[in-house]
Amino acid sequence: MADQAGIVAPPPASVSVARVTAVKHYTDSLFAFSCERPASFRFRSGEFVMIGLMNGPKPLLRAYSIASPAWDEQLSFYSIKVPDGPLTSRLQHIKVGDEVLVGKKPTGTLVLDALTPGKRLFLVSTGTGVAPFASLIREPETYERYEEVILTHTCRTAAELVYGAEVVEAAKQDPLVGEEASAKLRLVTSVTREAHPLEGRITTLIENGALFEHLGAAPLNPESDRIMICGSAAVLQAMKTLCEAHGFIEGANSEPASFVIERAFAG
Ligand code: A2P
Repeated sequence: MADQAGIVAPPPASVSVARVTAVKHYTDSLFAFSCERPASFRFRSGEFVMIGLMNGPKPLLRAYSIASPAWDEQLSFYSIKVPDGPLTSRLQHIKVGDEVLVGKKPTGTLVLDALTPGKRLFLVSTGTGVAPFASLIREPETYERYEEVILTHTCRTAAELVYGAEVVEAAKQDPLVGEEASAKLRLVTSVTREAHPLEGRITTLIENGALFEHLGAAPLNPESDRIMICGSAAVLQAMKTLCEAHGFIEGANSEPASFVIERAFAG
């Protein structure tokens, strides 16, 4: 890889180099991209990995949730564009054929094994926090483990909901999981800063019952519901408090329980 001065610096052994296969821009501040999956790269659907670019002699890496399922030949990601962000200010300009760096150690708690068995799975996301759920809704095991999968996506504006709607549609058309996804997966969108059929923060919609009214479904039940949450630090804190008040217990890889949280990465 060459830096701006054309000096070639080899990437460190902790990362692989992968060629970009697709880029799609959604808004001025949101884009998605895919790259080849490095040989021998293994992960569990819902995990994150370090992604980046060479910055002179050093790699510049940030954590990104992998938005494609564990069986896919490509790795997909969904990112914000931060004008002054050290990585995303450059990453937003990548094109098909460019090279990105992919870390070799995927990890994370938004994995099916961190939850005890249940009937309904709620995937609660805000902003780019929908990315790990784009992976899990194309994972066959999600539908083997749950009777119903409800993905909630809350953003400030409707334009920010387009990626989530596309990945749900893609899951329903998917040759591997399409039939199961069509039968079991529901997407609920809410918007907080403009008019929308369902308006308000997800915490408010759970607390005032509007989410369940909208779904025509029973309210939260810690016996049979399982919850995964991905969003900003403020959203995680608010949802964690809400889940615990409803009798849910936070799980981890080492100790599965009834809900798990992970910060949506930025920068
Ligand atoms: P709001 O517009 O009322 O702040 P962001 O773009 O800042 O990451 O926010 C994504 C979504 O998360 C927005 O719809 C935002 O609502 C919502 N949000 C922000 N803070 C909280 C919180 N503490 N609890 C629930 N939702 C939140």
